[in-house]
Amino acid sequence: MPVAPFTLADLRSARTTGRRVAMLTCYDYTTAGLLDRAGVPMLLVGDSASGVILGHPTTLPIKLDFLIEITAAVRRGAPSAMVIGDMPFGSYHTLGSRAIDNVCRMIKESGCDVVKMEVSEAHLELVKILSQSGVAVMAHLGLRPQAVGLTGYKSQGRTVDEASHILRQSQAFARAGAVGLLLEAVPAEVGQRVVEETDVPVIGCGAGPACHGHVVVLQDLLRQTPRQPKFVPRIELKADLIENARAYVRMIESGEYPAAEHGYTMPEDQRRLFLRDPANGTPSDPAIV
Ligand code: KIV
Repeated sequence: MPVAPFTLADLRSARTTGRRVAMLTCYDYTTAGLLDRAGVPMLLVGDSASGVILGHPTTLPIKLDFLIEITAAVRRGAPSAMVIGDMPFGSYHTLGSRAIDNVCRMIKESGCDVVKMEVSEAHLELVKILSQSGVAVMAHLGLRPQAVGLTGYKSQGRTVDEASHILRQSQAFARAGAVGLLLEAVPAEVGQRVVEETDVPVIGCGAGPACHGHVVVLQDLLRQTPRQPKFVPRIELKADLIENARAYVRMIESGEYPAAEHGYTMPEDQRRLFLRDPANGTPSDPAIV
C-alpha cells in the first residue's frame, strides 16, 4: 500500500508533537526502495558515499555529478521518504552564483526535497538567498567532515567557547531561513540547547537525545564498515535489511536511542559554564548576524 510522503510539515511538527524521526544514509535505488518499505521517513544521500561507496579516505574527492546521479536514483527508489541531497566539497565554497547554480542543479536533476550543506559563517548569506528563493536548506554544524583539514575528525563543542559558538551559529542559520539543522558529534548539552534556543527541527548525528531526529550511515548501522563512531546504535543484526531498518526506526521512535553511551561529554567545568544563562561570560561572535 502506498504510504503518504514524509514532508517538511511532518518534520516541523516533530518540534511540537515530540515524535522522534529516523534518518538513514542511502546511496542507491534498490536500497532506497527497501528503506522506503521499512518506513524510514528521511533518506540522506550523504557525501559519506565518498568513503562508503567509492573507497576514498575523506569526503573531499566526491563529485557533484556523481552525487546528483545517485540522489536521483534514491529519489526514484523511495517515493515516500524525504530525500536530502548533500552538496559536496567545492560545489558551494565559492559562494555566489556558481554555488546557487550547483544547488539548483542538485534540485532539478535529482528531485531531492532538501539540500544539506556543511556551513560556517561564510555561508550565511548564501543560505539566506537560497531560502528566500524557495530552497529548503539543512545546515550541517558541529563536526564538518569537509573541514577535516582544519579540525580532523574530532567531536566538536566540548569547550564552552566551542559549544557557545555552535549554538550561536545554529541560531544564525535558523534566522537565515534554514529549514533544519544537522548537528554532528557534539555533546548532548549542545544538542539540547540548540533544540531549546532555535525554532527549527534539529537532526542529531551523535548530538544527544533532545534532537528531533537522528541519522547514521547505513553501512555503520549494519556494521559493514571496519569501525563505527560511538554514536551508532548496536542493533541485533538480521539477514533482512528491512527488519534492520525497522529496528532502527523503532529505537528512535521509542526514545531508546540515543542513550548516554552514544554521546560525547564535556569536561564538568565547561559543562557548568555552558549550562549557565546565554550571557555566560563567553565572548560574543560579532561575525554572526
Ligand atoms: O554525508 C553524510 O552521510 C553525513 C552524515 C554522516 C550526517 O553528512
